[in-house]
Amino acid sequence: MHLHLRDGEQMQAVLPDTVKRFARAIVMPNLQSPVITTELALAYSSRISSALTANIGMKFEPLMTLYLTDNTKCSEIKKAKASGIIHGVKFYPAGTTTNSDTGVTDIAKCFPVLEAMEQENIALLVHGEINDPKIDIFDKEKYFIDRVLVTIAQHFPNLRIVFEHITTKEAVDFVKESSENIGATITAHHLLLNRNAMLQGGIHPHYYCLPVLKREIHRLALIEAAVSGDQKFFLGTDSAPHSKSTKESDCGCAGIYSSHAAIELYAEIFEQADALEKLEGFASFFGADFYGLPRNRESITLTKESWNVPMEFEFAGETLVPLRAGRSMIWKILD
Ligand code: DOR
Ligand code: ZN
Repeated sequence: MHLHLRDGEQMQAVLPDTVKRFARAIVMPNLQSPVITTELALAYSSRISSALTANIGMKFEPLMTLYLTDNTKCSEIKKAKASGIIHGVKFYPAGTTTNSDTGVTDIAKCFPVLEAMEQENIALLVHGEINDPKIDIFDKEKYFIDRVLVTIAQHFPNLRIVFEHITTKEAVDFVKESSENIGATITAHHLLLNRNAMLQGGIHPHYYCLPVLKREIHRLALIEAAVSGDQKFFLGTDSAPHSKSTKESDCGCAGIYSSHAAIELYAEIFEQADALEKLEGFASFFGADFYGLPRNRESITLTKESWNVPMEFEFAGETLVPLRAGRSMIWKILD
């Protein structure tokens, strides 16, 4: 329920990994030229469909999103709803992450649009980090809750909100205590790793993502939420491919690629927490329910069989270093 598919040849390279494991995905709109209108979303959706046709036999439904800006019009929300393919509008506080420069500078400017979304029943998807450069990077999610999210939730009690890729105990508590209209996605990497993985024994750029990995107490709170069976928490990989050269750089990009092994990694986490029976709800039911989509009826099969993740994948003339590169996996998906 949260995926970066990119565009063009990069999309062609990564799409098969997702389609092998998921029948649909909420597709993020932060392309280099962001998807700010329904027209652009329709065009992006048909580029995804063409890429699927090119890889014969791949069945997959892209659930499109719009990128919110200070200038988004209420009429655009009506158009989005009428399109039937747009399931959410993504709020990136300007400057917080990849291609967020045209994001929202002050959410108060968007209140009329949020009201239109509330009326049209289109979900608001939030990148939950405050865009105040004075705030410590490890505290940006907490400040976003206190200064932004609480206000939105108070003003728009009927707006459905997905707090994306939550990373802290504060976020878990906020979602638990909120109304049924607020849910959250949790990534595999935030369940698997804490900030030591990124910074201990050298700097590991392939573990750099946003929101940045946090302390162990936060990772444990995320695991508890994910395996709890609470339907407010559901799967969203935030798989975000960047080429090896742009990650291994003096100003490396944020994003972790996990689509090649996503469901297998979640299975590992749930098994370690002795909660494999809770995986299906988290991975397949709760997100669909939140978005008002029918639950999928087809299934995939995972077996306990070890395999090694390749060191790199081909990525539009460059390479891509996946999560767990060169190391072994416990669960395998049956072809
Ligand atoms: O790590 C991230 N990568 N976080 C985001 O919010 C954006 C994403 C990307 O598009 O690369
Ligand atoms: Zn994302």
